[in-house]
Parts: sequence; structure tokens; C-alpha cells
Amino acid sequence: MSEIIATSVQDVRFPRGWIPIGYTIPWITPPPAADTAEAQAAQRKIQNAYGAAVENVFAVLQAGGEGLAEAIEGANEKQDNILAAMHFEPEQKNPTFPADEKGPWEVNVAGKSLVLWRDSDDNLQCIDNYCRHMGAKLSIGEIKGDSIQCPFHHWSWNGEGDCTDIAYCDKIPPRAKTDKFPIVERNGMVFLWHCPEGSEPAWEIPVMEEFENSEWTNWTVTTEIIDTHWKELIDNISDRAHFGPVHDAPCSHFENVFEDHTALQINHCNSTTLGMLYSNATYYGPCYQITEWKGELPDNLAYEDGELILSRIQQPVKVAEGTIQDGYNFPVLDTDFNAFAGITEEDGKLITPMGDELTHKGKKVVKVPGPVHNVRMLNAHMPIDLKQLGADNDSFRLFTGVMIKKLDGIPDEDSEAISAAYAHASMNAFFQDVWIWKNKRFEPNPVLCAGDGPINKLRKNWYTQFYTEAEKNSADVA
Ligand code: FES
Ligand SMILES: [Fe+2]
Repeated sequence: MSEIIATSVQDVRFPRGWIPIGYTIPWITPPPAADTAEAQAAQRKIQNAYGAAVENVFAVLQAGGEGLAEAIEGANEKQDNILAAMHFEPEQKNPTFPADEKGPWEVNVAGKSLVLWRDSDDNLQCIDNYCRHMGAKLSIGEIKGDSIQCPFHHWSWNGEGDCTDIAYCDKIPPRAKTDKFPIVERNGMVFLWHCPEGSEPAWEIPVMEEFENSEWTNWTVTTEIIDTHWKELIDNISDRAHFGPVHDAPCSHFENVFEDHTALQINHCNSTTLGMLYSNATYYGPCYQITEWKGELPDNLAYEDGELILSRIQQPVKVAEGTIQDGYNFPVLDTDFNAFAGITEEDGKLITPMGDELTHKGKKVVKVPGPVHNVRMLNAHMPIDLKQLGADNDSFRLFTGVMIKKLDGIPDEDSEAISAAYAHASMNAFFQDVWIWKNKRFEPNPVLCAGDGPINKLRKNWYTQFYTEAEKNSADVA
């Protein structure tokens, strides 16, 4: 009896384009991931318990306020559970390519081992790591001026890929040339131009005006190797239908715009952990995406004089002139406030009358708008290697991070803390995908329905532009 083994055809090509390979800024250890079914279920249970407790607070208020103090205490207790579950102590790591260090550094990217170092002008140079003489790794050699010297027989190589010196021989062989890779440092990262045919860069990585800008926080970034094919991450560009089930953030509007090397995802979704999100996420080439987000955090409840009754989010909220609610936790529930017609300005002034007038302790109850955050998110990846080419696993390095526009009247450290909390939440969101990726195979010919995003267009029309002409015609179009 023969055994039937399910296989899936996987792509064996590396894309042409700018590939991010590391940070020039410090990064934090990624948070522990809820990357098993059990951990996912436990996370949801905690969130749902809190949601029910908050609903109870509103029910008590609507019934006249009897037992409100206990109801609020119950909700706060449940919120503490969420915070405990999300808590982590991020360890700060040094940049991979610090501006004040010379290297050399070894980088494994797109099935190759490369060496990087800084020349005498501190510009990064990058060539094939294996010495063309007899194959020693240059990354264990020494930098000599603008060149890197191989430890085996002391041949030196410059960033153009030319051999510049052989101590024991006057004549450098004409064939003493190796592969070089253009490098740019931008927005806190180092990018390498990868092309199997050795072409020059065909576009630029845009300079972010928010980077190193005093109106914005620093990046809070992290990185981790994921043992999955990077095209699972690419599919996310068009995978509208996964946002609800996987991220608890169902889309109310979703659109892709593909233009040359860019792919834009316009997404309006309601996230249980991040509130209402309006995002424009743009891929600049195959590996680098910057998202512009506007996050509207859910409202809180306060008495008319500004005293806060219930902060479901504990973001800094101005409830009355000079009153700021501290603490940087996350919105975990979006409750429908339609029953409450009263809205206040941030200074606590009532601007619309209450519909169903609610009072408690003889005071009017009003809702206070949560703050609006302007957020930038980084989602980038470096293809590392493929099982079909002999590696242990398909793998890529994920780079993700967040910065926010500093809020008026909030100290810089507090804005940084909010940014770090967003970064934590966005990393958690990535690991919701990882949990799926660990439990799926790549599907080259998916059966799609009308509610799915344009996944085939993404794969066949947009992503294939990053293959060489010869690769495009190969049978393996995934
Ligand atoms: S192997 Fe590099 S100099 Fe000989
Ligand atoms: Fe996702």
C-alpha cells in the first residue's frame, strides 16, 4: 500500500530590490508570543472577561447606578489581568550596525553570506563574504583602510569588489573580483540592493520626515527570525479576510493600489487591542513597508465636572482642565456608546446634551473622547534562506516597530512609553500571524471568494516584477 504524502510547491526565488538587513538604532527584545492555539485562547478569554465586566458597568449605570463602585472595581480587576498577560520587560539591544563601529559584520541574506564594514569615511561597504582566493570568510578578517583583509593569505578587497593588495605578490590577477552590493542607511535601517543579475538600484527608499524629528518619538523597534517563507508575509498585503479572525480587527473598508514597485493597502478596521484604526500601508519594493496610522482610542466615562469614572484605556486623557489620567495601557474593548448622546470637549466642557440623561451621585455622566494617535509602523523583512536550497528551514528576519507623534501637553518620556506600548501590541499582532504560519502550508493556487482581497493580482501582477526576466518565465509561478 502506498502512502500519499501531501506536498506544496514553494517559490525558490529571492526578490530583486532593497532588502533591509539590520538597524543602526537600538532595538528591544521581542515580547513573548502567544503563538499556540492554547495561548491564543487564553488571551481571548482574558479580553472577553474584561469586555463583559465593562458592559456590566454600563448596564449598572443605565439601571440607575446602584452598585456602580463594585462594578467598576470588577472591571478594573479584569483589566489588571490583561495588563499582567501583556506585560514584558524588553531588554535593549545594541544596534546591529552602529554608526560609531567599523565592523566587519557577517550577514546571511537571500541564500548568501555577505560581509559589511565601514570604510575610512564611515560609509558601509558590502561584498561577498567568501574570499575569491581560497574561500575563507572575510568577516573574520581585519579592516585595513578602505578594504577588508582576508585572514587566510592577507588578500585585501575594497567595496567595489576589487582585490587591492596581495602582500606576497606584485601582480593582482585580473580575475580577482568579487560581487559587491549597494548599501544605503535610511530611517534607522541598513538596506542592501539585491539583484541576481547584478543590476543597479532601480528606485529609492523614501526618507521618512518623521525619523529623527523632535515632533515624533524615536522608533521602538524589534526583530526576530521567523522560520516561514516570507511570501506568507507578502500575502498579508491583500488578505482582507484574515484581519477579523486572526487579529480581532475586522475591516470596514479595504483597498489595494498597486503602482510600479509600490503596493498600498488602505484599511479601516476596528481592533480590540488598538481601537479604531485608519491605516495606509505602503510597500516600497518587495521587503519594506511603512504604515501611516491614525488610531482613535475609545471614549471614557466621566462626571460632568471632569472626574473620571471609568477609563477603559488609561491612555493620557484630559478629563478636565489640568487633569491628566496617567498610565499607558491598551484599549481592549470597543463598546457601543450610542446610548450616550452626551459628548464633552477634551477640557470636560459638555458640548451636546445627554440623550438618555444619566446621573450618578447626583452628577451628570458624560463621555470623554479618547485621544487620537498618529502612528508610523515599520514592517520589513529580510529573506534569509530556503529549505529547497538545502537550508534547515525557509526563513526570514522580521523587522517591526512603531513611532508616534508626540501628544500636546504630554512629557516626551510618556510619548515614548505609549510608542513602546504600541510596538508591543503590533509585535503581538505579528505573532498572531506566526501562529497561523506555523500551522499551514503555502497554497500556490488558492480558491478565492468575492470577500477576499486581490491575492492573485498581488502575487502574479505585482510581486513577480521583483524577479528577473528569466525567473519570471520559470514554471514555478507561486
Ligand atoms: S583565502 Fe582569502 S587570501 Fe587566501
Ligand atoms: Fe496579519
